[in-house]
Amino acid sequence: MQPEATRRVLIVGATSAIAAETARAYAAYGARLFLTGRNPERLQAVAADLAVRGASAVETAVLDVTDRRRAGEVMDAAWTAFGGLDVALLAHGVLPDQARCQSSAEEAVAALEVNFVSTVALLTPLANRFEEARAGCIAVITSVAGDRGRQSNYVYGAAKGGLDRFLEGLRNRLFHSGVAVITLKPGFVDTPMTAGRPQGPLFASARRVGRAVHRAIERRRDVAYIPWFWRPIMAVIRGLPEAAFKRLRL
Ligand SMILES: NC(=O)c1ccc[n+]([C@@H]2O[C@H](COP(=O)([O-])OP(=O)(O)OC[C@H]3O[C@@H](n4cnc5c(N)ncnc54)[C@H](OP(=O)(O)O)[C@@H]3O)[C@@H](O)[C@H]2O)c1
Repeated sequence: MQPEATRRVLIVGATSAIAAETARAYAAYGARLFLTGRNPERLQAVAADLAVRGASAVETAVLDVTDRRRAGEVMDAAWTAFGGLDVALLAHGVLPDQARCQSSAEEAVAALEVNFVSTVALLTPLANRFEEARAGCIAVITSVAGDRGRQSNYVYGAAKGGLDRFLEGLRNRLFHSGVAVITLKPGFVDTPMTAGRPQGPLFASARRVGRAVHRAIERRRDVAYIPWFWRPIMAVIRGLPEAAFKRLRL
């Protein structure tokens, strides 16, 4: 990879609270950033903030990730803007209402579309570019929710769990070309996504998580639980026998 000061970094879903903090960490080192977001005003505000914080170049493109044709065009633009990429971080996502997903197939499919299908669609051209370049790093924010299906959010969990499997296979493929694939698994994070939900002691700030995302990418972790304590917690939860797990109200 290029030295951190000249890194070329794509962030999809750059207006996410977590991603904006990761972008700030890159900006502090003078990286060049290509940002996409669906809301033009918020995207411009994030871009301006990063320019002030030291990014040596900031390009933006408005993108709703469910617009497949535009997504392909924007990935091409991101790749050519700085003559290639060193890091691609995919951070977009929605937390759907589980009850609504249970009563409406459309709601459930729409959640899978944003959280899973769109990400696969973005990763397909990106992976080929990185593979050809034989360098760089692809990082995707999934979730601890993908580790086990729970009655309270299994549509979201299914999308994130599906992404985990996809990334596992992609990592195995791209390892042979020297490209890192990083699965980032935050637990509960205090962001607009969780606004209005009761917050317990396991909640982390977007700043803490965003910086940990930056660290995990720079250290080329394969799978990072963020904060770290989610790794043992999820090991216990994954280890519970299904016969017992199905009786719980989680
Ligand atoms: N917060 C948590 O507790 C938590 C836990 C584990 C994993 N995560 C994951 O962390 C990532 C970042 O989430 P966050 O917590 O930072 O929440 P956030 O601030 O609400 O960010 C979510 C981002 O996704 C974007 N997005 C949603 N649908 C989109 C679409 N169709 N096209 C383009 N962009 C779209 C949103 O754009 P708009 O602002 O325009 O809607 C927003 O920028 C997500 O993948 C999320 O699933 C979050």
